[in-house]
Amino acid sequence: MKYVLALDQGTTSSRAIVFNREGQVVALAQREFRQIFPQPGWVEHDAREIWATQHAVALEAIEKAGGEIVAIGITNQRETTVLWDRATGQPVANAIVWQDRRTAPRCDELRKAGKAALIQKKTGLVIDAYFSGTKLQWLLDNVPGARKRAEAGELAFGTVDSWLLWNLTRGRLHGTDASNASRTLLFNLHTMDWDDELLRLLDIPRAVLPQVLPSSGLLADVETSLFEASIPIAGIAGDQQAATFGQACFAPGMAKNTYGTGCFMLMNTGATPVASRNRLLTTVGWQGPQAAHRTAYCLEGSVFMAGATVQWLRDGLQVIQSAPEVESLAAQVEDTGDVYLVPAFAGLGTPDWDGYARGTLVGMTRGTTRAHIARAALEAIALQSADVFDAMSRDSRIALKELRVDGGASRNNLLMQMQADFLGVPVVRPQVTETTALGAAYLAGLATGYWSGADEISAQWKSDRRFEPRLPEGERRAKLARWRQAVERSKGWAQR
Ligand code: G3P
Repeated sequence: MKYVLALDQGTTSSRAIVFNREGQVVALAQREFRQIFPQPGWVEHDAREIWATQHAVALEAIEKAGGEIVAIGITNQRETTVLWDRATGQPVANAIVWQDRRTAPRCDELRKAGKAALIQKKTGLVIDAYFSGTKLQWLLDNVPGARKRAEAGELAFGTVDSWLLWNLTRGRLHGTDASNASRTLLFNLHTMDWDDELLRLLDIPRAVLPQVLPSSGLLADVETSLFEASIPIAGIAGDQQAATFGQACFAPGMAKNTYGTGCFMLMNTGATPVASRNRLLTTVGWQGPQAAHRTAYCLEGSVFMAGATVQWLRDGLQVIQSAPEVESLAAQVEDTGDVYLVPAFAGLGTPDWDGYARGTLVGMTRGTTRAHIARAALEAIALQSADVFDAMSRDSRIALKELRVDGGASRNNLLMQMQADFLGVPVVRPQVTETTALGAAYLAGLATGYWSGADEISAQWKSDRRFEPRLPEGERRAKLARWRQAVERSKGWAQR
């Protein structure tokens, strides 16, 4: 049997999934790795652990699947910034994770210098510590000797896709794909290339940058010794763009929301970038040479804390022992008793973009129990996504009729019902919720002819369950308004 392998390098775990021609999961392996929190607001990963866990799970999944792997697709946590030595292949510091807020003051400077319009026009992004550009600048300025060595061409920068590609090819290819490049603050959406003016603004030498590759195409062969076979790497996309592809959102106006560590809603807007008026991001969906998946742009709303909020209930507050328990605990109460949890643990993303906001729990009384807090946590995930959905509907002027969902927490039926209620439109969950990995597999398999084109992929998408909204419109609006009051209270807390 012939299969396609997807490497899905996420924020908290490395996963490898083998898919068959029907787009079904044949084998899966997963390993968590360390989250490093050196200071409040800082989040780091050891890039060597990222590679070691990713290699190990790939071997495990290949072994479990049996058969022949004909293509590899890479998908990854985006924005996380790695800087390594080209000669030794060793990182010069820990990777700075997308959730890390250390560069919020640098972002303030850029905003004060009046650079927001320029940056939005060129990159489609807002100025925020979320993106790679200021993280890379921080590493160059703070790791001893790094700037000099970078200028001399001795160091390589990459997001996690680049880091994996480098290791998979043992340093033969230093590349990234356009969807990942579009998250760096350094990439011009209109020229589809690194932008000299932005490089100057952030003081980044061109010599550190990877080559920008298509998201689907024969990119390189893996180093034979790694998997005892020479397999083509034929697809790369950031995890949220890959999930959009895996959800077969090929037509403009189709949208998906992925419930992972964070929650990311992306809508395909077609072959030209659409500028947001409601603080959404414009981003490359994918860039492929074939007609079926040529360049597509997306509008994106990024919510930083979704599944991570449930992990915090488990590990921080310790009110549940395992993440799935949150559903039964929250179901013990009919409502939150007017309690709101704003999980701004890493600041707020769309639409507020406040790097100084922090987690806030409001409205508690003597009657508040852990069940109310669990329910408020689930509601917060759905309410943040409702804010994004609202911005998206206003930006695109398309009345979105339904939302496709995926990711781990999309299996939580209570959460999905809340989501439909707060959106006021149905939420549809597909049978395969591993759409991030599936999208990467599709991008790779299309390039090698394993799948024939978008029609074949669209036909593989099948609904598992549809959640219809039940909340009366007046109550829905009141709920969203009350939530916004809570959000306002979380803002600016870390800015002393
Ligand atoms: O932009 C960050 C995003 O790519 C992280 O995704 O799935 O690890 O939460 P995830």
